[in-house]
Amino acid sequence: MSQIMACLSILYIVLFHLFGGEMMATMVGKKLQEGEIVELEEEELLGLYEVMDALVDDPDWAQTHPNPCSQTPFPGIECEESIGDNAKYHVTKIHIGPDTLFPPPCKHSAYLSKSLLKLTYLKTLSIFNCFVSSPVTLPSALFGNFSSLEHLALQSNPTLYGEIPPSLGHVQSLRILSLSQNSLQGNIPREFGFLVCLEQLDLSYNNLSGQIPMEIGGLKSMTILDLSCNKIEGDMPYSLGQLQLLQKMDLSYNKLGGMIPNELGMLKRLVLLDLSHNFINGPIPETMSSLELLEYLDIDDNPIKAGIPFFIGNLWKLKSVSFSGCGLIGSIPNFFSSLMNLTALSLDNNSLSGQVPITLGLLPNLDQLNISHNKLNGVLQLPGEFIGKLGKRLDVRGNSDLCISAQSKKKNLSSYFEIPSCVNKNGSFGNGPPQDPAGIKPSWYNSNMSSSSRLLKLQVILFTLVSNFILSLLILLL
Ligand SMILES: *[C@@H]1O[C@H](CO)[C@@H](O)[C@H](O)[C@H]1NC(C)=O
Ligand SMILES: *[C@@H]1O[C@H](CO)[C@@H](O)[C@H](O)[C@H]1NC(C)=O
Ligand SMILES: *[C@@H]1O[C@H](CO)[C@@H](O)[C@H](O)[C@H]1NC(C)=O
Ligand SMILES: *[C@@H]1O[C@H](CO)[C@@H](O)[C@H](O)[C@H]1NC(C)=O
Ligand SMILES: *[C@@H]1O[C@H](CO)[C@@H](O)[C@H](O)[C@H]1NC(C)=O
Ligand SMILES: *[C@@H]1O[C@H](CO)[C@@H](O)[C@H](O)[C@H]1NC(C)=O
Ligand SMILES: *[C@@H]1O[C@H](CO)[C@@H](O)[C@H](O)[C@H]1NC(C)=O
Ligand SMILES: *[C@@H]1O[C@H](CO)[C@@H](O)[C@H](O)[C@H]1NC(C)=O
Repeated sequence: MSQIMACLSILYIVLFHLFGGEMMATMVGKKLQEGEIVELEEEELLGLYEVMDALVDDPDWAQTHPNPCSQTPFPGIECEESIGDNAKYHVTKIHIGPDTLFPPPCKHSAYLSKSLLKLTYLKTLSIFNCFVSSPVTLPSALFGNFSSLEHLALQSNPTLYGEIPPSLGHVQSLRILSLSQNSLQGNIPREFGFLVCLEQLDLSYNNLSGQIPMEIGGLKSMTILDLSCNKIEGDMPYSLGQLQLLQKMDLSYNKLGGMIPNELGMLKRLVLLDLSHNFINGPIPETMSSLELLEYLDIDDNPIKAGIPFFIGNLWKLKSVSFSGCGLIGSIPNFFSSLMNLTALSLDNNSLSGQVPITLGLLPNLDQLNISHNKLNGVLQLPGEFIGKLGKRLDVRGNSDLCISAQSKKKNLSSYFEIPSCVNKNGSFGNGPPQDPAGIKPSWYNSNMSSSSRLLKLQVILFTLVSNFILSLLILLL
Protein backbone atom coordinates (compact mmCIF):
# COMPACT_ATOMS: atom_id res chain seq x y z
CA MET A 1 0.00 0.00 0.00
CA SER A 2 2.71 2.43 0.96
CA GLN A 3 4.45 1.46 -2.27
CA ILE A 4 1.39 2.40 -4.26
CA MET A 5 1.18 5.70 -2.40
CA ALA A 6 4.85 6.35 -3.09
CA CYS A 7 4.35 5.66 -6.78
CA LEU A 8 1.29 7.90 -6.89
CA SER A 9 3.10 10.78 -5.27
CA ILE A 10 5.94 10.35 -7.72
CA LEU A 11 3.51 10.28 -10.61
CA TYR A 12 2.14 13.54 -9.24
CA ILE A 13 5.61 15.06 -9.24
CA VAL A 14 6.25 13.83 -12.79
CA LEU A 15 2.98 15.37 -13.97
CA PHE A 16 3.88 18.54 -12.15
CA HIS A 17 7.15 18.76 -14.04
CA LEU A 18 5.54 17.84 -17.32
CA PHE A 19 2.67 20.30 -17.23
CA GLY A 20 4.44 23.37 -15.94
CA GLY A 21 4.43 24.01 -12.22
CA GLU A 22 2.81 27.45 -12.34
CA MET A 23 -0.70 26.39 -11.44
CA MET A 24 0.29 23.95 -8.74
CA ALA A 25 3.19 25.94 -7.35
CA THR A 26 1.43 26.79 -4.14
CA MET A 27 0.64 23.16 -3.50
CA VAL A 28 3.89 21.48 -4.40
CA GLY A 29 7.50 22.51 -3.97
CA LYS A 30 8.43 25.53 -6.02
CA LYS A 31 11.82 26.11 -7.52
CA LEU A 32 13.54 29.39 -6.82
CA GLN A 33 13.59 32.20 -9.32
CA GLU A 34 16.83 33.89 -10.20
CA GLY A 35 17.82 36.56 -7.67
CA GLU A 36 15.35 35.44 -5.02
CA ILE A 37 17.00 35.20 -1.61
CA VAL A 38 16.04 32.45 0.77
CA GLU A 39 17.83 30.89 3.63
CA LEU A 40 18.28 27.26 4.45
CA GLU A 41 17.96 25.95 7.94
CA GLU A 42 21.34 25.89 9.60
CA GLU A 43 21.63 22.12 9.83
CA GLU A 44 20.88 21.67 6.16
CA LEU A 45 23.20 24.50 5.12
CA LEU A 46 26.05 23.00 7.11
CA GLY A 47 25.31 19.61 5.60
CA LEU A 48 25.50 21.09 2.12
CA TYR A 49 28.81 22.79 2.91
CA GLU A 50 30.25 19.53 4.19
CA VAL A 51 29.07 17.64 1.13
CA MET A 52 30.51 20.24 -1.22
CA ASP A 53 33.74 20.45 0.76
CA ALA A 54 34.24 16.72 0.28
CA LEU A 55 33.78 17.09 -3.47
CA VAL A 56 35.00 20.39 -4.89
CA ASP A 57 38.50 21.73 -4.95
CA ASP A 58 37.57 25.13 -3.53
CA PRO A 59 38.26 25.69 0.19
CA ASP A 60 36.35 28.96 0.06
CA TRP A 61 33.20 27.48 -1.39
CA ALA A 62 31.20 28.08 1.80
CA GLN A 63 32.34 31.70 2.06
CA THR A 64 31.64 32.46 -1.57
CA HIS A 65 28.22 30.80 -1.42
CA PRO A 66 26.48 32.19 1.67
CA ASN A 67 23.10 31.60 0.03
CA PRO A 68 23.64 28.58 -2.15
CA CYS A 69 19.95 28.30 -2.93
CA SER A 70 19.76 31.83 -4.28
CA GLN A 71 22.97 32.12 -6.15
CA THR A 72 22.98 31.27 -9.76
CA PRO A 73 26.74 31.14 -10.36
CA PHE A 74 26.59 27.54 -9.31
CA PRO A 75 23.73 25.95 -11.21
CA GLY A 76 24.53 22.52 -9.86
CA ILE A 77 22.39 23.17 -6.80
CA GLU A 78 18.64 23.52 -6.75
CA CYS A 79 16.30 24.25 -3.88
CA GLU A 80 12.55 23.91 -3.65
CA GLU A 81 9.91 25.04 -1.24
CA SER A 82 8.70 22.11 0.75
CA ILE A 83 5.12 20.93 0.71
CA GLY A 84 2.95 22.43 3.41
CA ASP A 85 5.87 24.33 4.92
CA ASN A 86 5.72 28.08 5.07
CA ALA A 87 8.42 29.35 2.75
CA LYS A 88 10.91 26.78 3.95
CA TYR A 89 13.34 25.91 1.25
CA HIS A 90 15.39 22.76 1.00
CA VAL A 91 18.20 21.49 -1.18
CA THR A 92 16.64 19.12 -3.68
CA LYS A 93 19.40 18.70 -6.24
CA ILE A 94 23.17 18.48 -6.33
CA HIS A 95 24.75 18.03 -9.70
CA ILE A 96 28.45 18.00 -10.48
CA GLY A 97 29.67 17.40 -13.96
CA PRO A 98 31.30 18.91 -17.00
CA ASP A 99 27.91 19.87 -18.39
CA THR A 100 27.25 22.43 -15.66
CA LEU A 101 28.06 26.04 -16.35
CA PHE A 102 31.35 26.86 -14.57
CA PRO A 103 31.77 23.47 -12.91
CA PRO A 104 34.09 23.64 -9.93
CA PRO A 105 36.91 21.15 -10.35
CA CYS A 106 36.62 18.08 -8.18
CA LYS A 107 39.18 17.49 -5.46
CA HIS A 108 41.96 15.02 -5.96
CA SER A 109 40.65 13.24 -2.88
CA ALA A 110 36.95 13.75 -3.57
CA TYR A 111 34.52 11.47 -1.74
CA LEU A 112 30.86 11.16 -0.75
CA SER A 113 30.38 12.79 2.63
CA LYS A 114 28.09 11.21 5.23
CA SER A 115 26.61 14.68 5.60
CA LEU A 116 24.45 13.83 2.57
CA LEU A 117 22.19 12.36 5.24
CA LYS A 118 21.49 15.88 6.49
CA LEU A 119 19.97 16.76 3.14
CA THR A 120 16.77 14.90 3.80
CA TYR A 121 14.92 16.56 0.92
CA LEU A 122 17.51 15.70 -1.70
CA LYS A 123 15.81 14.28 -4.78
CA THR A 124 18.63 14.36 -7.32
CA LEU A 125 22.26 13.53 -6.78
CA SER A 126 24.35 13.34 -9.91
CA ILE A 127 28.10 13.27 -10.02
CA PHE A 128 29.94 12.83 -13.30
CA ASN A 129 33.65 12.35 -13.79
CA CYS A 130 34.58 13.48 -10.29
CA PHE A 131 36.14 10.43 -8.63
CA VAL A 132 39.07 10.01 -10.93
CA SER A 133 42.19 9.77 -8.77
CA SER A 134 41.65 8.35 -5.32
CA PRO A 135 39.54 5.26 -4.59
CA VAL A 136 35.99 5.85 -3.38
CA THR A 137 33.26 3.40 -2.35
CA LEU A 138 29.50 3.81 -1.96
CA PRO A 139 28.92 3.84 1.81
CA SER A 140 26.04 1.61 2.75
CA ALA A 141 24.87 4.05 5.44
CA LEU A 142 24.18 6.77 2.87
CA PHE A 143 21.15 4.96 1.56
CA GLY A 144 18.03 3.53 3.07
CA ASN A 145 14.33 4.04 3.36
CA PHE A 146 14.81 7.42 5.06
CA SER A 147 16.03 8.84 1.79
CA SER A 148 13.91 10.86 -0.61
CA LEU A 149 16.23 10.34 -3.59
CA GLU A 150 14.48 9.90 -6.89
CA HIS A 151 17.38 10.27 -9.24
CA LEU A 152 20.84 8.94 -8.43
CA ALA A 153 23.43 9.18 -11.17
CA LEU A 154 27.07 8.50 -10.41
CA GLN A 155 28.64 8.07 -13.81
CA SER A 156 32.07 7.97 -15.41
CA ASN A 157 33.93 7.86 -12.11
CA PRO A 158 36.83 5.49 -12.75
CA THR A 159 37.91 5.25 -9.12
CA LEU A 160 34.44 4.55 -7.76
CA TYR A 161 34.84 0.88 -6.89
CA GLY A 162 33.59 -1.79 -4.50
CA GLU A 163 30.15 -3.34 -4.24
CA ILE A 164 26.78 -1.71 -4.72
CA PRO A 165 25.35 -1.48 -1.19
CA PRO A 166 22.17 -3.56 -0.81
CA SER A 167 20.73 -0.66 1.20
CA LEU A 168 20.23 1.15 -2.11
CA GLY A 169 17.35 -1.27 -2.65
CA HIS A 170 15.52 0.43 0.23
CA VAL A 171 15.48 3.84 -1.41
CA GLN A 172 11.98 3.17 -2.62
CA SER A 173 11.51 6.63 -4.05
CA LEU A 174 14.15 5.99 -6.72
CA ARG A 175 12.96 6.43 -10.27
CA ILE A 176 16.31 6.64 -12.06
CA LEU A 177 19.43 4.84 -10.96
CA SER A 178 22.50 5.13 -13.12
CA LEU A 179 25.86 3.85 -11.96
CA SER A 180 27.39 3.35 -15.40
CA GLN A 181 31.07 3.62 -16.30
CA ASN A 182 32.51 3.19 -12.84
CA SER A 183 34.59 0.33 -11.46
CA LEU A 184 31.89 -1.31 -9.38
CA GLN A 185 32.16 -5.02 -8.77
CA GLY A 186 30.31 -7.84 -7.03
CA ASN A 187 26.68 -8.83 -7.50
CA ILE A 188 23.59 -6.87 -8.39
CA PRO A 189 21.86 -6.72 -4.98
CA ARG A 190 18.68 -8.81 -4.65
CA GLU A 191 17.24 -5.88 -2.73
CA PHE A 192 16.85 -4.00 -6.01
CA GLY A 193 13.65 -5.99 -6.39
CA PHE A 194 12.07 -3.61 -3.86
CA LEU A 195 12.50 -0.60 -6.14
CA VAL A 196 8.94 -0.67 -7.39
CA CYS A 197 9.07 2.90 -8.71
CA LEU A 198 12.33 2.49 -10.58
CA GLU A 199 11.92 3.33 -14.25
CA GLN A 200 15.53 3.24 -15.41
CA LEU A 201 18.37 1.07 -14.20
CA ASP A 202 21.74 1.54 -15.86
CA LEU A 203 24.67 -0.42 -14.45
CA SER A 204 26.56 -0.64 -17.74
CA TYR A 205 30.35 -0.54 -18.08
CA ASN A 206 31.35 -1.81 -14.66
CA ASN A 207 32.91 -5.00 -13.42
CA LEU A 208 29.74 -6.56 -11.99
CA SER A 209 29.59 -10.33 -11.78
CA GLY A 210 27.27 -13.05 -10.49
CA GLN A 211 23.79 -13.68 -11.83
CA ILE A 212 20.91 -11.36 -12.56
CA PRO A 213 18.85 -11.81 -9.37
CA MET A 214 15.43 -13.41 -9.75
CA GLU A 215 14.07 -10.51 -7.69
CA ILE A 216 14.56 -8.21 -10.67
CA GLY A 217 11.01 -9.16 -11.61
CA GLY A 218 9.85 -6.84 -8.84
CA LEU A 219 10.86 -3.73 -10.76
CA LYS A 220 7.37 -3.27 -12.13
CA SER A 221 7.82 0.30 -13.34
CA MET A 222 10.98 -0.30 -15.29
CA THR A 223 11.17 0.93 -18.87
CA ILE A 224 14.93 0.83 -19.44
CA LEU A 225 17.30 -1.88 -18.23
CA ASP A 226 20.94 -1.62 -19.21
CA LEU A 227 23.41 -4.10 -17.70
CA SER A 228 25.74 -4.16 -20.71
CA CYS A 229 29.53 -4.49 -20.53
CA ASN A 230 29.94 -6.33 -17.24
CA LYS A 231 30.78 -9.92 -16.33
CA ILE A 232 27.29 -11.08 -15.47
CA GLU A 233 26.87 -14.82 -15.88
CA GLY A 234 24.30 -17.59 -15.59
CA ASP A 235 20.90 -17.86 -17.25
CA MET A 236 18.61 -14.93 -17.85
CA PRO A 237 15.96 -15.24 -15.10
CA TYR A 238 12.43 -15.95 -16.32
CA SER A 239 11.25 -13.19 -13.97
CA LEU A 240 12.47 -10.68 -16.58
CA GLY A 241 9.13 -11.43 -18.23
CA GLN A 242 7.41 -9.56 -15.39
CA LEU A 243 8.84 -6.22 -16.48
CA GLN A 244 5.73 -5.46 -18.49
CA LEU A 245 6.59 -1.82 -19.16
CA LEU A 246 10.10 -2.52 -20.40
CA GLN A 247 10.99 -0.79 -23.67
CA LYS A 248 14.72 -1.28 -23.80
CA MET A 249 16.76 -4.21 -22.54
CA ASP A 250 20.50 -4.24 -23.13
CA LEU A 251 22.38 -7.20 -21.65
CA SER A 252 25.16 -7.18 -24.26
CA TYR A 253 28.83 -7.90 -23.55
CA ASN A 254 28.38 -10.16 -20.55
CA LYS A 255 28.82 -13.86 -19.89
CA LEU A 256 25.18 -14.90 -19.91
CA GLY A 257 24.52 -18.51 -20.89
CA GLY A 258 21.60 -20.89 -21.18
CA MET A 259 18.64 -20.20 -23.40
CA ILE A 260 16.41 -17.16 -23.75
CA PRO A 261 13.49 -17.78 -21.38
CA ASN A 262 10.03 -18.18 -22.96
CA GLU A 263 8.77 -15.47 -20.62
CA LEU A 264 10.66 -12.83 -22.59
CA GLY A 265 7.78 -13.00 -25.04
CA MET A 266 5.65 -11.24 -22.42
CA LEU A 267 7.53 -7.98 -22.84
CA LYS A 268 4.93 -6.54 -25.18
CA ARG A 269 6.35 -3.02 -25.12
CA LEU A 270 9.92 -3.94 -25.92
CA VAL A 271 11.42 -1.80 -28.69
CA LEU A 272 15.08 -2.73 -28.28
CA LEU A 273 16.57 -6.07 -27.32
CA ASP A 274 20.35 -6.43 -27.29
CA LEU A 275 21.73 -9.76 -26.11
CA SER A 276 24.86 -9.62 -28.25
CA HIS A 277 28.27 -10.93 -27.16
CA ASN A 278 27.19 -13.51 -24.60
CA PHE A 279 27.09 -17.31 -24.52
CA ILE A 280 23.37 -17.71 -25.11
CA ASN A 281 22.26 -20.93 -26.83
CA GLY A 282 19.50 -21.42 -29.38
CA PRO A 283 16.94 -21.99 -30.51
CA ILE A 284 15.29 -18.66 -29.85
CA PRO A 285 11.83 -19.26 -28.33
CA GLU A 286 8.81 -18.81 -30.59
CA THR A 287 7.11 -16.83 -27.81
CA MET A 288 9.12 -13.87 -28.99
CA SER A 289 6.71 -13.61 -31.90
CA SER A 290 4.57 -11.48 -29.59
CA LEU A 291 7.17 -8.72 -29.27
CA GLU A 292 5.17 -6.73 -31.77
CA LEU A 293 6.79 -3.37 -31.08
CA LEU A 294 10.35 -4.62 -31.47
CA GLU A 295 12.47 -2.41 -33.74
CA TYR A 296 16.04 -3.38 -32.83
CA LEU A 297 17.12 -6.97 -32.33
CA ASP A 298 20.81 -7.72 -31.79
CA ILE A 299 21.89 -11.28 -31.01
CA ASP A 300 25.45 -11.04 -32.47
CA ASP A 301 28.12 -13.41 -31.25
CA ASN A 302 26.13 -16.01 -29.34
CA PRO A 303 26.21 -19.78 -30.01
CA ILE A 304 22.59 -19.92 -31.22
CA LYS A 305 23.40 -22.71 -33.74
CA ALA A 306 19.87 -22.97 -35.11
CA GLY A 307 17.89 -21.72 -38.07
CA ILE A 308 16.71 -18.13 -38.39
CA PRO A 309 13.52 -18.11 -36.29
CA PHE A 310 10.32 -17.85 -38.31
CA PHE A 311 8.62 -15.42 -35.96
CA ILE A 312 10.90 -12.66 -37.17
CA GLY A 313 8.70 -12.35 -40.24
CA ASN A 314 5.82 -11.26 -37.96
CA LEU A 315 7.70 -8.48 -36.22
CA TRP A 316 6.81 -5.93 -38.84
CA LYS A 317 8.26 -2.95 -36.97
CA LEU A 318 11.80 -4.31 -37.08
CA LYS A 319 14.33 -1.81 -38.38
CA SER A 320 17.55 -3.56 -37.50
CA VAL A 321 18.20 -7.28 -37.16
CA SER A 322 21.66 -8.60 -36.37
CA PHE A 323 22.71 -12.23 -36.09
CA SER A 324 26.45 -12.05 -36.85
CA GLY A 325 28.56 -14.95 -35.65
CA CYS A 326 25.65 -16.97 -34.25
CA GLY A 327 26.39 -20.28 -35.98
CA LEU A 328 23.10 -19.96 -37.86
CA ILE A 329 22.27 -22.86 -40.18
CA GLY A 330 19.72 -23.40 -42.95
CA SER A 331 18.81 -20.86 -45.59
CA ILE A 332 17.88 -17.19 -45.56
CA PRO A 333 14.08 -17.30 -45.38
CA ASN A 334 11.87 -15.32 -47.73
CA PHE A 335 9.92 -13.72 -44.90
CA PHE A 336 12.39 -10.88 -44.53
CA SER A 337 10.56 -9.39 -47.51
CA SER A 338 7.59 -8.65 -45.24
CA LEU A 339 9.68 -6.40 -42.99
CA MET A 340 9.06 -3.19 -44.88
CA ASN A 341 10.79 -1.01 -42.29
CA LEU A 342 14.00 -3.01 -42.22
CA THR A 343 17.04 -0.77 -42.74
CA ALA A 344 19.89 -3.02 -41.57
CA LEU A 345 20.31 -6.78 -41.73
CA SER A 346 23.46 -8.60 -40.60
CA LEU A 347 23.65 -12.33 -41.10
CA ASP A 348 27.41 -12.49 -41.63
CA ASN A 349 29.83 -15.02 -40.20
CA ASN A 350 27.34 -17.92 -39.97
CA SER A 351 26.81 -21.21 -41.79
CA LEU A 352 23.83 -20.15 -43.86
CA SER A 353 23.44 -22.03 -47.12
CA GLY A 354 21.22 -21.94 -50.19
CA GLN A 355 20.37 -18.99 -52.38
CA VAL A 356 20.04 -15.36 -51.42
CA PRO A 357 16.34 -14.46 -51.74
CA ILE A 358 15.89 -11.93 -54.55
CA THR A 359 13.20 -10.25 -52.42
CA LEU A 360 15.83 -8.84 -50.06
CA GLY A 361 16.74 -6.38 -52.79
CA LEU A 362 13.15 -5.16 -53.00
CA LEU A 363 12.92 -3.92 -49.43
CA PRO A 364 12.44 -0.16 -49.80
CA ASN A 365 14.35 0.90 -46.69
CA LEU A 366 17.13 -1.67 -46.56
CA ASP A 367 20.36 0.25 -46.57
CA GLN A 368 22.84 -2.16 -45.02
CA LEU A 369 23.15 -5.85 -45.78
CA ASN A 370 25.96 -8.07 -44.59
CA ILE A 371 25.69 -11.71 -45.64
CA SER A 372 29.44 -12.26 -45.85
CA HIS A 373 31.22 -15.38 -44.63
CA ASN A 374 28.52 -17.98 -45.02
CA LYS A 375 27.96 -20.93 -47.34
CA LEU A 376 25.53 -19.22 -49.63
CA ASN A 377 25.47 -20.36 -53.24
CA GLY A 378 23.91 -19.87 -56.64
CA VAL A 379 23.56 -16.70 -58.64
CA LEU A 380 23.20 -13.54 -56.63
CA GLN A 381 20.15 -11.96 -58.19
CA LEU A 382 19.82 -8.77 -56.22
CA PRO A 383 18.66 -5.93 -58.49
CA GLY A 384 21.48 -3.80 -59.92
CA GLU A 385 19.79 -0.70 -58.57
CA PHE A 386 19.91 -2.13 -55.06
CA ILE A 387 23.56 -3.14 -55.41
CA GLY A 388 24.42 0.36 -56.61
CA LYS A 389 22.47 2.05 -53.82
CA LEU A 390 24.16 0.10 -51.03
CA GLY A 391 27.69 0.22 -52.39
CA LYS A 392 30.06 -0.68 -49.58
CA ARG A 393 27.18 -1.29 -47.23
CA LEU A 394 26.50 -4.50 -49.12
CA ASP A 395 28.97 -7.20 -48.14
CA VAL A 396 28.72 -10.60 -49.82
CA ARG A 397 32.34 -11.73 -49.52
CA GLY A 398 33.40 -15.11 -48.27
CA ASN A 399 30.68 -17.23 -49.89
CA SER A 400 32.71 -19.50 -52.12
CA ASP A 401 29.80 -20.81 -54.17
CA LEU A 402 28.10 -17.52 -54.80
CA CYS A 403 28.49 -15.89 -58.20
CA ILE A 404 27.10 -13.00 -60.16
CA SER A 405 25.97 -12.62 -63.75
CA ALA A 406 28.50 -11.21 -66.22
CA GLN A 407 26.37 -8.15 -66.88
CA SER A 408 26.19 -7.07 -63.25
CA LYS A 409 29.90 -7.63 -63.00
CA LYS A 410 30.54 -4.90 -65.56
CA LYS A 411 28.99 -2.30 -63.28
CA ASN A 412 30.95 -0.28 -60.81
CA LEU A 413 30.96 -2.66 -57.86
CA SER A 414 32.44 -2.05 -54.43
CA SER A 415 35.38 -4.01 -53.15
CA TYR A 416 32.98 -5.74 -50.75
CA PHE A 417 31.51 -7.39 -53.78
CA GLU A 418 34.34 -9.76 -54.55
CA ILE A 419 32.46 -12.66 -56.02
CA PRO A 420 33.15 -14.41 -59.28
CA SER A 421 31.16 -13.98 -62.40
CA CYS A 422 28.98 -17.04 -63.05
CA VAL A 423 29.85 -17.36 -66.75
CA ASN A 424 33.52 -16.76 -66.14
CA LYS A 425 34.20 -19.40 -63.59
CA ASN A 426 37.83 -20.11 -64.17
CA GLY A 427 37.93 -19.48 -67.84
CA SER A 428 35.50 -22.11 -69.03
CA PHE A 429 33.02 -20.19 -71.16
CA GLY A 430 34.22 -16.76 -70.25
CA ASN A 431 35.47 -15.52 -73.56
CA GLY A 432 32.51 -16.28 -75.75
CA PRO A 433 29.34 -14.21 -75.99
CA PRO A 434 27.28 -14.34 -72.82
CA GLN A 435 25.41 -17.65 -72.74
CA ASP A 436 23.11 -16.51 -70.00
CA PRO A 437 22.54 -12.77 -70.30
CA ALA A 438 20.11 -12.60 -67.40
CA GLY A 439 22.43 -14.54 -65.18
CA ILE A 440 19.60 -16.75 -64.14
CA LYS A 441 21.21 -20.15 -64.54
CA PRO A 442 23.16 -21.32 -61.53
CA SER A 443 26.91 -21.39 -61.55
CA TRP A 444 27.34 -25.10 -62.12
CA TYR A 445 25.41 -24.81 -65.36
CA ASN A 446 28.37 -23.36 -67.18
CA SER A 447 31.14 -25.02 -65.33
CA ASN A 448 33.50 -27.18 -67.29
CA MET A 449 32.20 -30.61 -66.31
CA SER A 450 34.69 -33.27 -67.16
CA SER A 451 33.62 -35.48 -70.05
CA SER A 452 33.60 -38.55 -67.83
CA SER A 453 31.16 -37.01 -65.36
CA ARG A 454 28.98 -35.91 -68.28
CA LEU A 455 28.97 -39.46 -69.53
CA LEU A 456 28.05 -40.68 -66.07
CA LYS A 457 25.07 -38.33 -65.93
CA LEU A 458 23.92 -39.51 -69.34
CA GLN A 459 24.15 -43.12 -68.20
CA VAL A 460 22.10 -42.39 -65.11
CA ILE A 461 19.40 -40.71 -67.18
CA LEU A 462 19.31 -43.59 -69.68
CA PHE A 463 19.16 -46.14 -66.92
CA THR A 464 16.26 -44.34 -65.26
CA LEU A 465 14.36 -44.12 -68.55
CA VAL A 466 14.89 -47.76 -69.40
CA SER A 467 13.99 -49.04 -65.96
CA ASN A 468 10.85 -46.90 -65.90
CA PHE A 469 9.88 -48.31 -69.29
CA ILE A 470 10.36 -51.89 -68.14
CA LEU A 471 8.39 -51.18 -64.96
CA SER A 472 5.43 -49.74 -66.92
CA LEU A 473 5.55 -52.71 -69.26
CA LEU A 474 5.43 -55.10 -66.33
CA ILE A 475 2.49 -53.26 -64.76
CA LEU A 476 0.59 -53.37 -68.05
CA LEU A 477 1.23 -57.07 -68.46
CA LEU A 478 0.15 -58.05 -64.94
C1 LIG B 1 12.77 1.32 7.12
O1 LIG B 1 13.32 0.03 7.13
C2 LIG B 1 13.35 -0.59 8.37
C3 LIG B 1 14.07 -1.91 8.22
O2 LIG B 1 14.05 -2.37 6.91
C4 LIG B 1 11.92 -0.79 8.84
O3 LIG B 1 11.92 -1.37 10.13
C5 LIG B 1 11.23 0.56 8.91
O4 LIG B 1 9.88 0.39 9.25
C6 LIG B 1 11.33 1.26 7.57
N1 LIG B 1 10.80 2.58 7.71
C7 LIG B 1 9.94 3.09 6.84
C8 LIG B 1 9.52 4.48 7.10
O5 LIG B 1 9.52 2.45 5.87
C1 LIG C 1 37.27 -6.94 -12.39
O1 LIG C 1 37.11 -7.97 -11.43
C2 LIG C 1 38.08 -8.98 -11.48
C3 LIG C 1 37.75 -10.01 -10.44
O2 LIG C 1 36.38 -10.22 -10.36
C4 LIG C 1 39.45 -8.38 -11.25
O3 LIG C 1 40.43 -9.37 -11.37
C5 LIG C 1 39.71 -7.27 -12.25
O4 LIG C 1 40.91 -6.64 -11.97
C6 LIG C 1 38.60 -6.25 -12.22
N1 LIG C 1 38.80 -5.29 -13.29
C7 LIG C 1 38.62 -3.99 -13.11
C8 LIG C 1 38.85 -3.14 -14.29
O5 LIG C 1 38.25 -3.52 -12.06
C1 LIG D 1 32.82 -15.14 -36.36
O1 LIG D 1 32.05 -15.75 -35.35
C2 LIG D 1 32.79 -16.44 -34.37
C3 LIG D 1 31.81 -17.06 -33.42
O2 LIG D 1 30.90 -17.83 -34.12
C4 LIG D 1 33.73 -15.48 -33.66
O3 LIG D 1 34.53 -16.18 -32.75
C5 LIG D 1 34.61 -14.79 -34.69
O4 LIG D 1 35.38 -13.81 -34.05
C6 LIG D 1 33.75 -14.13 -35.75
N1 LIG D 1 34.60 -13.58 -36.80
C7 LIG D 1 34.49 -12.31 -37.19
C8 LIG D 1 35.41 -11.90 -38.27
O5 LIG D 1 33.67 -11.54 -36.72
C1 LIG E 1 7.24 1.61 -41.34
O1 LIG E 1 7.10 1.76 -42.73
C2 LIG E 1 5.88 2.28 -43.13
C3 LIG E 1 5.79 2.23 -44.64
O2 LIG E 1 7.05 2.32 -45.22
C4 LIG E 1 5.72 3.68 -42.60
O3 LIG E 1 4.49 4.23 -42.96
C5 LIG E 1 5.84 3.63 -41.11
O4 LIG E 1 5.85 4.93 -40.58
C6 LIG E 1 7.11 2.95 -40.68
N1 LIG E 1 7.08 2.76 -39.28
C7 LIG E 1 8.08 3.10 -38.52
C8 LIG E 1 7.94 2.79 -37.08
O5 LIG E 1 9.09 3.60 -38.97
C1 LIG F 1 30.50 -7.84 -42.54
O1 LIG F 1 30.80 -8.73 -41.51
C2 LIG F 1 32.16 -9.09 -41.39
C3 LIG F 1 32.32 -10.05 -40.23
O2 LIG F 1 31.59 -11.18 -40.39
C4 LIG F 1 33.00 -7.88 -41.15
O3 LIG F 1 34.36 -8.24 -41.11
C5 LIG F 1 32.75 -6.86 -42.25
O4 LIG F 1 33.44 -5.68 -41.96
C6 LIG F 1 31.28 -6.56 -42.38
N1 LIG F 1 31.07 -5.71 -43.54
C7 LIG F 1 30.61 -4.48 -43.46
C8 LIG F 1 30.45 -3.75 -44.74
O5 LIG F 1 30.30 -3.97 -42.40
C1 LIG G 1 33.14 4.07 -60.15
O1 LIG G 1 33.71 4.16 -58.85
C2 LIG G 1 34.71 5.14 -58.76
C3 LIG G 1 35.30 5.08 -57.35
O2 LIG G 1 34.51 4.35 -56.49
C4 LIG G 1 34.12 6.50 -59.06
O3 LIG G 1 35.13 7.49 -58.99
C5 LIG G 1 33.50 6.48 -60.46
O4 LIG G 1 32.85 7.70 -60.69
C6 LIG G 1 32.49 5.36 -60.58
N1 LIG G 1 31.99 5.28 -61.94
C7 LIG G 1 30.71 5.14 -62.26
C8 LIG G 1 30.39 5.03 -63.70
O5 LIG G 1 29.83 5.10 -61.41
C1 LIG H 1 41.57 -20.87 -62.34
O1 LIG H 1 41.92 -21.56 -61.15
C2 LIG H 1 43.31 -21.75 -60.98
C3 LIG H 1 43.54 -22.54 -59.72
O2 LIG H 1 42.42 -23.25 -59.36
C4 LIG H 1 44.00 -20.41 -60.94
O3 LIG H 1 45.40 -20.60 -60.84
C5 LIG H 1 43.66 -19.60 -62.15
O4 LIG H 1 44.20 -18.32 -62.04
C6 LIG H 1 42.17 -19.51 -62.34
N1 LIG H 1 41.86 -18.80 -63.56
C7 LIG H 1 40.99 -17.81 -63.66
C8 LIG H 1 40.80 -17.21 -64.98
O5 LIG H 1 40.35 -17.41 -62.70
C1 LIG I 1 37.52 -28.43 -69.77
O1 LIG I 1 38.35 -29.27 -68.96
C2 LIG I 1 39.20 -30.11 -69.62
C3 LIG I 1 39.94 -30.97 -68.61
O2 LIG I 1 39.11 -31.33 -67.57
C4 LIG I 1 40.17 -29.32 -70.47
O3 LIG I 1 40.99 -30.17 -71.22
C5 LIG I 1 39.43 -28.39 -71.39
O4 LIG I 1 40.31 -27.53 -72.03
C6 LIG I 1 38.42 -27.55 -70.60
N1 LIG I 1 37.65 -26.75 -71.52
C7 LIG I 1 37.57 -25.45 -71.43
C8 LIG I 1 36.70 -24.76 -72.41
O5 LIG I 1 38.16 -24.80 -70.55
